[in-house]
Amino acid sequence: MTQRIGLFYASTTGNTETVAEQIAGLIEEAQVDLHDLASEPVSSITQYDRLIMGIPTWDFGELQEDWDAVWPELEQIDFSGRKVALFGLGDQLGYGEWFLDAMGLLGELVQARGGELVAPWPVNGYEFEQSRALNPDGTHFIGLAIDEDGQAGETAERIARWVPEVLSAFEL
Ligand SMILES: Cc1cc2nc3c(=O)[nH]c(=O)nc-3n(C[C@H](O)[C@H](O)[C@H](O)COP(=O)(O)O)c2cc1C
Repeated sequence: MTQRIGLFYASTTGNTETVAEQIAGLIEEAQVDLHDLASEPVSSITQYDRLIMGIPTWDFGELQEDWDAVWPELEQIDFSGRKVALFGLGDQLGYGEWFLDAMGLLGELVQARGGELVAPWPVNGYEFEQSRALNPDGTHFIGLAIDEDGQAGETAERIARWVPEVLSAFEL
């Protein structure tokens, strides 16, 4: 098992990819490997016990297409003993009834397969009707919430605050 962090993402219009690169840019190069699921196998996840995973929500609460394509394989992965930090991309104004739902689906899968979610993110500063990506008490998202459609100006600062929390949870 490598000590490196595996950062897995997929992106239809490039926003999640840009955020993934920004996150990786704040981690030492020798510590992180970027994997785009559109072109790289999801089975590589098993090489890491520290994972960052990024997923945008599409089509009214649905998984992004590359995540959807690998979902059956992902459901077979044993996440026990692995720490997982999630980040989700969504549009709270345009799709406020399904804000970041795909991050919620991914979190449910990881937890059902024994993984530990780390680095939740407060809901303050967002306006939406419903989200599947909330902690039970509703005070936090289960991972970093990024809205490039309505709050792009906040993204860099949000990432800069979240990455140290992830590294601390990973004990790095
Ligand atoms: C047709 C369409 C459907 C979308 N559905 C949702 C949704 O249900 N929930 C949400 O939070 N965002 C939704 N979004 C917003 C995207 O998640 C957002 O634009 C994201 O940044 C796209 O990431 P990507 O460029 O990595 O694919 C939708 C966007 C489009 C164009």
